[in-house]
Amino acid sequence: MSADRQPGRRTAVLVSGSGSNLQSFIDRVQAGTLDLELAAVISDRPGAYALTRAAVAGIPAQTVNYAEIGDRERFAAELGRVLGEIDPDIVVLAGFMRILPPQLVNTYLGRMLNVHPSLLPLYPGLDTYRRALAAGDRWHGSTVHFVTPELDAGPGIAQYRVLVRPGETVDSLRSRVQRGEHRLYPEVVGWLAAGRAFHRGGRAWLDGHPLERPVVVDEPAP
Ligand code: GRF
Repeated sequence: MSADRQPGRRTAVLVSGSGSNLQSFIDRVQAGTLDLELAAVISDRPGAYALTRAAVAGIPAQTVNYAEIGDRERFAAELGRVLGEIDPDIVVLAGFMRILPPQLVNTYLGRMLNVHPSLLPLYPGLDTYRRALAAGDRWHGSTVHFVTPELDAGPGIAQYRVLVRPGETVDSLRSRVQRGEHRLYPEVVGWLAAGRAFHRGGRAWLDGHPLERPVVVDEPAP
């Protein structure tokens, strides 16, 4: 471990897109309200705007180009190699759109988190806003969970919940839910880094207790 490495806080962020969640981590670390070392940003797409955000913040960023590699297994092997070099304590999936194989997930079990835009176990997979609206759901939201080999099925730590409004659209719902993600996700990763949250026996624990269900944070009233 290098001399300036803080134990348990070295974080790699995996991205594919805009990186608004990444930005919420950067902002808090820069403001001194989140004690993480943002050591690396890795994208599977060369054009991801998240890479620009990383560059502006001075975080080493690189692309493991899925389209160029063109094969799931070889992509995962290369990503695993790159992550191994970075040697993170924590891996944050922030809008990372690739499914990782069990071997890679298990290497970081208990140290890899994802944010998924639904109130899991509802709507694993894609297109969650449209599906929730089509079902006429009263609530929608986002879940921060440990990543396990089964897609979007790892134990949830916290959920941000919004009440679906009359006339709600995919865009309006997404913007409300993402506002909450930007608040909740860095906070939960902070719990992990501080040892308050951990994964044991297939469950998420917080402050010494196994969670029966994720902690729910409701959108503040307008
Ligand atoms: C987030 O809203 C998250 O729920 C989902 O992908 C989105 C990524 O957005 N996993 P961004 O790239 O962080 O802006």
